Amino acid sequence: MANEQPDVTPWEAEAFVDYNRLIEIFGAKPLTEREARLLEEVVGEQHFMIRRRVFYSHRDLDAFLEAYRRGERTALYTGRGPSGHTHLGHILPWVFTKWLQEKLGIDLFFQITDDEKFWHEEGYRLEDTNRMAYENILDIIAVGFKPEKTHIVIDSEDIRYLYPIAARVAKKITFSVQRAAFGFTDSTNVGMIFYPTLQIAMAFLPSEIYGEPTWVLIPAGIDQDPYWRIARDIAPSLGYPKPAQIHGKLLPGLGPEGKMSSSKPETALYTTDPPEVAKKKIMRAFTGGQPTAELQRKLGGNPDRCPIFKLYELMFEPDDKKLEERYWACKTGKLLCGECKRELAERVAKFLEEHQKRREKAKDMVDKFLIRNKFDPPPVESRVKKR
Ligand code: TYM
Repeated sequence: MANEQPDVTPWEAEAFVDYNRLIEIFGAKPLTEREARLLEEVVGEQHFMIRRRVFYSHRDLDAFLEAYRRGERTALYTGRGPSGHTHLGHILPWVFTKWLQEKLGIDLFFQITDDEKFWHEEGYRLEDTNRMAYENILDIIAVGFKPEKTHIVIDSEDIRYLYPIAARVAKKITFSVQRAAFGFTDSTNVGMIFYPTLQIAMAFLPSEIYGEPTWVLIPAGIDQDPYWRIARDIAPSLGYPKPAQIHGKLLPGLGPEGKMSSSKPETALYTTDPPEVAKKKIMRAFTGGQPTAELQRKLGGNPDRCPIFKLYELMFEPDDKKLEERYWACKTGKLLCGECKRELAERVAKFLEEHQKRREKAKDMVDKFLIRNKFDPPPVESRVKKR
C-alpha cells in the first residue's frame, strides 16, 4: 500500500472518484479481460456490470474461481450498515451479488451492522439502528436472494456467531494499524475502534460454520476495502484462506458531488420513496448539462460528470449500445437533460413499483433468512486447523 491517504473511507466517499488512483492506493488489482473471461467460463454468462467494469477491481478473484472450479468449499459475503432506509447505491452491489449466488449456487453470508451505525451516527439509539436492520432486510429479500442459501447475521442479536472469531481477530490488530486504515483519532469512540474486528471476523464465519477452510468472495463497493486489507493480512495466521474481493464503483447522489448516501436524503433515491417522489427528485437533479437548452444544443453536455448518466451507466441501461448512443447524443447536444431525466425517472419508478411489491411480500419471509434459525453458533474452539 502506498502512503497516500485515500479520500474514500467506509464512512466518507466521493462519487466522481479517480478509480484507478484508488486501486493504486489500496493495492488492489484492476479487473482485466483475463478475470472477466474466467468468470464467464465458470458461470457460463457475463453480467453487464463486469463487461462495463461497474465491478472493476479485485483481489484474488481468480484464485477464488479456481478453488470453486476444483470443487473446494466457497461462500459469498456482503453486508449493510443500517443507518437509514436502503437507497439505490446499496442495491447496486446486491443485484450483482444475487447474480453471483444464482450462478455459483453457493451460500451468501450477510452481515447487518446495527452496532456500527449506532456507534458512528450521532443521535441514534441502538434500538433505532436495530429497527432499521429489519427494514433493510426487507430490501435484501426483495432483491431476490435465495432464503435457503442466504444467512443473515444481525450484530446486536447474533454476536455469539462472531464473538469467538472476533476475539482472535482483535488480538492480531494493533491500534496503529486501525488508525492508518480508518483514520481514527483520540476522540473516536471505542465502539468504532473495535468495530472493524467484527466486519473482519464475519469473513471467517463460513469456515467455522462449515468446519473447513472456506474460500470467501466479498462483492461490495470499493469504500469497504480498508477492512479487507487487514482481513487478508491476518487470515493465514488464524488458519483461514485470505478472503477475495470484487469491488464496485459508487453510485453518485443526485447533487453535484458525493456518493449516494443515507446521510444526504435529498440527493438519495430510497427504495421506500413513492415512485412519484423519486421521479421529482430525478427531475430536480444536478446534471452535466449546460444552463440553457440553446447552449446544450450548441456545446453539448458532460456525461462523465453527470449523476443522471451514471445512473444509466451503473444500473439502469444494461444495453451497451444504447448506453453509448446516449453518451454521444448528450456530448453532441442532441439529447437535452429534461428528456434524459424523464426517461430515467420512468425506469426508476418502474423499478421501485416492482421492488416495493416484493418488499411487502418479504415481511413474512424474514425468519427464513436469519442465521440463528439455521445454524448453531460455532464453538469457542476453532473448527479450522491451522495449516
Ligand atoms: P453500507 O451500508 O454503507 O453499504 C452497503 C453496501 O453498499 C455499498 N454502497 C454503495 N455502492 C454503490 N454506490 C453507493 N453510493 C454506495 N453506498 C454504499 C457498500 O460498498 C456496501 O457494499 N460497514 C458496512 C456493512 C458491512 C459490509 C460487510 C459491507 C458489514 N460487512 C461486508 C460490505 C461487505 C456498511 O456500512 O455498508
